[in-house]
Amino acid sequence: KKIVLAYSGGLDTSVAIRWLQEKYDADVYAVTLDLGQGKDLDGVQKKALSIGAKEALVFDVREEFLSKYVLPALWANAIYEKRYPLATALSRPLIAKYLVQVAEEKGATYIAHGCTGKGNDQVRIEVSVAALNPDLQIIAPARIWGWTREEEIEWAHANGIPVPVTVDSPYSIDVNIWGRSIECGVLEDPWAEPPEDIYQWTLSPEKAPDEPATIEIGFENGIPKLLKGQFYSLVNMVEELNTIGGSQGFGRVDHVENRLVGIKSREIYECPAALLLLDAYKDLENLVMPREVTHFKSILEEKYSLMVYEGLWFSPLREALDAFMQKIADRVSGSIRIKLYKGNMQITGRKSENSLYDFALATYDKGDRFDHASAEGFIKLWGLPTKIDAIARKKTDQ
Ligand code: ARG
Ligand code: SIN
Repeated sequence: KKIVLAYSGGLDTSVAIRWLQEKYDADVYAVTLDLGQGKDLDGVQKKALSIGAKEALVFDVREEFLSKYVLPALWANAIYEKRYPLATALSRPLIAKYLVQVAEEKGATYIAHGCTGKGNDQVRIEVSVAALNPDLQIIAPARIWGWTREEEIEWAHANGIPVPVTVDSPYSIDVNIWGRSIECGVLEDPWAEPPEDIYQWTLSPEKAPDEPATIEIGFENGIPKLLKGQFYSLVNMVEELNTIGGSQGFGRVDHVENRLVGIKSREIYECPAALLLLDAYKDLENLVMPREVTHFKSILEEKYSLMVYEGLWFSPLREALDAFMQKIADRVSGSIRIKLYKGNMQITGRKSENSLYDFALATYDKGDRFDHASAEGFIKLWGLPTKIDAIARKKTDQ
């Protein structure tokens, strides 16, 4: 038997390597993606091999993640329940894609992952795998064990699996370049203020500098390309915005979230770049798009965000929505100026060669070209149904 395992290097998936080997008498292929989580992945690879993986494969997918997953989500203004920019959720279909690819290459029939039975991630990974190759079967060790943390550590010790010191951390943390997700420990009390030590990307607003930072982001056809007048690759752009935003105390989200499996869970996110880019893109899009597009698009955005959260990335609807979003993104070129100060961001200016803003129509000063006289006739007809209704009511009320 051959099993392809999504391997993070943490305790659960390390235990899973050995457990799968023994329980299924199988060769385990560990797959780890570099999504910008800032971990020593050479170390992760060595660890997988030392525990007994047949092969340990590492793929740097940061550029693919940003251009094929994050960018479409940015264009769709994908933000779950108006708070969560979906960093973890967006990474799952890409992880599934690599798991399937390796399974097909190695002739494996099983895919394994370390997700628990009460989370969203199991759904996203398994539904994505099913969409890409319906013949593959899933094994989810952490759903089968039913161990407590202590029992798991005991099993690890007994089987010579290295237990990282960080296992003391009570938090469950998932990181990629689009954001950090933090849950568990004291955070499970939704009234408890998050302790400062859970944050790694953002200063607390109290500690942020007394001077604001002003940045200018340039978009070309929906793609953020310029920062401070310089060209940036997507990877560098997102990293830099995380750094700038975080150093101004910006980018924290504290949210009680509705999970797909029916429970509410308290989630903390650090995602400065995501929040900056989502706001900047939306503002610029609004400048270049007619009112109907802006208003109608928000309905599709809501659906898009739900689909990403609920594991339906690989689906005909998401692809069709992407075509819609792409069509709009083609016109979103221009610049956004943002001021960051002690945990806040404020857009302070926008400009575009495709701008629909017409100074002569908007101004209250000299040079006004708006046809004031025609407003009168417009209001008469616009208000006509209201007036007819009011007249009819007045009659019947008497
Ligand atoms: N609640 C978030 C989501 O559903 C974050 C999940 C974090 N995942 C993790 N394995 N720690 O996307
Ligand atoms: C997990 O349970 O594996 C993490 C949390 C989630 O998937 O929502």
